[in-house]
Amino acid sequence: MKKSKSLNSAKGVAYTSRRLLGIFWREDKKTFIGTTIAVLVPSLIPFINAYIYALIINFVISSVCSAHHMSYDPLYILILIRILMLFVQDAAYTAQQRYNYIFSARIPLIFSQAIMRQLSRLDIQLIESSDFQNKFQSARDNATYRPSTMLVNIFYSMQSLLQLLVAAGSLFFLNWIFGVIILLTALPTFFYEAKNAKYVWAIWSDNSPYRKRFNYLYYQLQYPRSVKELKLFQLNDYFVKQGEKIGNKFAAENIAALNKRFLSGVIANLVNVAGYAAVEVYIIFITLAKKISIGSLTYYTTALINFQSGVNGLFRTASSVFEDSQYVKEVFDILDLEPKLISPPDAKVIKSNRTPRIEFKNVSFAYPESKTKVLDNFSITIEPGDKVAFVGENGAGKSTIIKLLCRFYDVDAGEILIDGINVKQLNLVAWYQHIGVIFQDFLRYEYSLRKNIWFGQIDKPEVIESIIAAAEQSGADAVAKSLDKGYDQMLGNVFDGGIELSTGQWQKVALARGFYRNAPILILDEPTSAIDAKAEHEIFRKVEKLTSDKTAIIISHRFSTVRNADKIYVIEDGRAVESGSHKELMKLNGIYADLFNLQAEAYK
Ligand SMILES: Nc1ncnc2c1ncn2[C@@H]1O[C@H](COP(=O)(O)OP(=O)(O)OP(=O)(O)O)[C@@H](O)[C@H]1O
Ligand SMILES: [Mg+2]
Repeated sequence: MKKSKSLNSAKGVAYTSRRLLGIFWREDKKTFIGTTIAVLVPSLIPFINAYIYALIINFVISSVCSAHHMSYDPLYILILIRILMLFVQDAAYTAQQRYNYIFSARIPLIFSQAIMRQLSRLDIQLIESSDFQNKFQSARDNATYRPSTMLVNIFYSMQSLLQLLVAAGSLFFLNWIFGVIILLTALPTFFYEAKNAKYVWAIWSDNSPYRKRFNYLYYQLQYPRSVKELKLFQLNDYFVKQGEKIGNKFAAENIAALNKRFLSGVIANLVNVAGYAAVEVYIIFITLAKKISIGSLTYYTTALINFQSGVNGLFRTASSVFEDSQYVKEVFDILDLEPKLISPPDAKVIKSNRTPRIEFKNVSFAYPESKTKVLDNFSITIEPGDKVAFVGENGAGKSTIIKLLCRFYDVDAGEILIDGINVKQLNLVAWYQHIGVIFQDFLRYEYSLRKNIWFGQIDKPEVIESIIAAAEQSGADAVAKSLDKGYDQMLGNVFDGGIELSTGQWQKVALARGFYRNAPILILDEPTSAIDAKAEHEIFRKVEKLTSDKTAIIISHRFSTVRNADKIYVIEDGRAVESGSHKELMKLNGIYADLFNLQAEAYK
């Protein structure tokens, strides 16, 4: 990821352009060829036109000066060709416009699909990192338009390039020294434009954390779950002002950079104009000296004008290509990332219908970018069919244990064994079939209630009986009864007709999804934090009653819910400091007993 910080060099721009053209070519060869023709034809037509016009003028002059009447037939043919050329020119422009529309519709889709596919395969470890979030935010925003504008500008650059080459060729033909002069005087403008593009990009890129903050502020102001608190704490104004401050900072830096470069821009332009004037004067004088015809004078003047506009067009589009390529490269950088936590080629598969043994052996782990060990020489064994519970303070590492079990991260030391096989050796897709996890920050799908539950087992057909059975286990059946459309009710407030549930109701739905998964290992991380005491009691009775071959791991702060577990682990300082049944732990009279008594005390 680091590499993308450095500015895309000319070589890099060429590579990015080639890659983009390659993608476009693979996706739609017909449009590619059509665009090339529609773009290149208009660069040639002005010269054909100017040449014909030169012939017409010469014809007119000789006709006027001639003592005899000349046949007008050649003139008619010339005029006809001119009209035809104008028509072709027009058709090409219309075609260009059409292709422009196709670009702006197709290319963003191609890219957003590629990004979505890429996101679905990248490591959670990477997605959770702020560095990735930073880069991704910018890549996603830019993918919606930068690749298509870059592509359009590449084609227009080719158009201008061809135009200026034909013009330069004509002028070389007339006098090669002036051909060279005219090319040289264009160089300062080129460097000026290239530098400008670099500047603008650097400002955006350097400030990208500001940009992230700006987007964050924006998002908070529109996000239903944050508006309540923002309004009540009157943070709205503060957020708006912060956004304004960031916006002003952008603008100021941009303007300062442009001001700094203003003078060099003026000078580059002067050089350009001087070159142009010199050649124009030269052409006039050689006509006066009768070295070329008046028709040729008009042709070369047109060539000169076309050269000039070709140069300007090329610089304008090339600097846009340069600028766009910086952003498109960021998108490619994201697309080039490779997931690291993948199943090895000879991955082992745990048989589908058995509950494996789980063993953490001297596991140590710190999150990347952090030095603090969350787990420190942590060892536990969970036998198939065990109903175990983890308790411990906030930040003790309980949720982290689950993430490691899912191999969202790799451990730094020690090993996690599933039926004696290291998770690193496992086929992860097959392993995930064995676990149903409802994470602490469970998801609320903006889908119907039945889909919310069915998502627990997406590879099986939606069977309403099983969905209802799972809902009964978690208490979500009561939620269904309270909804007009029952299980077919759209949930959430994003889509039309959706109904927003209470936090506890959502939690019951998530739990139903966990039960519906019907996996050999059920893991519930703080599953009932928002659920009323009566419903919670019911849910845990059902978890305990899960068939004896199913493993259950429950994380909870409420000791009343975990007391019936076969084995309770107290997690502290990255280790399991106490373990045993409720009875055993009470007898031990250690941390667990202390905390249990503390909670019990509150109810007396
Ligand atoms: N994605 C992450 N990146 C870096 N550090 C993290 C990340 N997630 C958690 N941590 C850190 O790891 C430690 C353990 O977090 P964890 O979520 O496992 O605690 P927990 O026991 O589940 O707490 P709680 O009871 O509040 O849910 C915390 O100190 C936290 O700051
Ligand atoms: Mg947690």
